[in-house]
Amino acid sequence: MNPYKINSERRLLTVNHLAEMKQQGEKIACLTAYDASFSALLDEAGIDVILVGDSLGMVIQGNSSTVPVTLDDMVYHSRCVTRGRRRAFVISDMPFMSYSTVEQALQSAARLMQQGGAQMVKLEGAHADIVSCLVAQGIPVCGHLGLLPQSINQLGRYKIQGTVSEMAEQMIQDALNIEQAGASLLVLECVPAALAQTITRQLEIPVIGIGAGLDCDGQVLVLYDILNIESGRKPKFFKDFMTGSASVLEAVKKYRQAVKKQTYPAPEHCY
Ligand code: KIV
Repeated sequence: MNPYKINSERRLLTVNHLAEMKQQGEKIACLTAYDASFSALLDEAGIDVILVGDSLGMVIQGNSSTVPVTLDDMVYHSRCVTRGRRRAFVISDMPFMSYSTVEQALQSAARLMQQGGAQMVKLEGAHADIVSCLVAQGIPVCGHLGLLPQSINQLGRYKIQGTVSEMAEQMIQDALNIEQAGASLLVLECVPAALAQTITRQLEIPVIGIGAGLDCDGQVLVLYDILNIESGRKPKFFKDFMTGSASVLEAVKKYRQAVKKQTYPAPEHCY
């Protein structure tokens, strides 16, 4: 047995691995996690990317939106997650109002990386100017377009985005701008599958979808949703992987497999 083989299989994924996966057509399986135990379990199941999402404001803290989540919360949960994993790439969300100026964005991202151990930060919206300043300081960035949960008080409700042609055109342009500013990844949330396909084909960087169809380069879901822990109204892209699984580990492995083999999302999960 070659001990180095095991080592190399378990080595920490980097931003380069994610870019290679897109080039090679391998789908990227991503889930959220907020603590060390679930982080270790997701890692064991072979999840490629763990997102420390500000969705923790809802599923961990019991708030009705992500707006109350603070930078301290994100640093704390990022640290828990990065301690738990061995291989998975970790992205941390920049919370509401932690990137309203370039200076503030730099300080927030620095804390997520230095204290939280994040390998990349994610920010919502078309902020190419902020993305390029972060990238210039060596901070890998993930953009997030489509439904922007931090803007819920402007939107009024969580709903599909980019259905009107001008908004779709704008989203394509925003995605190109974010890529040009140096982002390494893009999340598209709740957008029509056809629009997500266009954006995924136009960008060189990997595009990760949530409610954005099958043609994205990978999928992300909230862990508590795939485990069917969350009660209340389910989004169209919801899929319970827990029912019929013997353990949480098995449910997560099924999710990973479904993403890799492109059996999730199915047409009924798409807009
Ligand atoms: O906060 C979050 O969990 C997210 C998602 C993309 C699911 O941003």
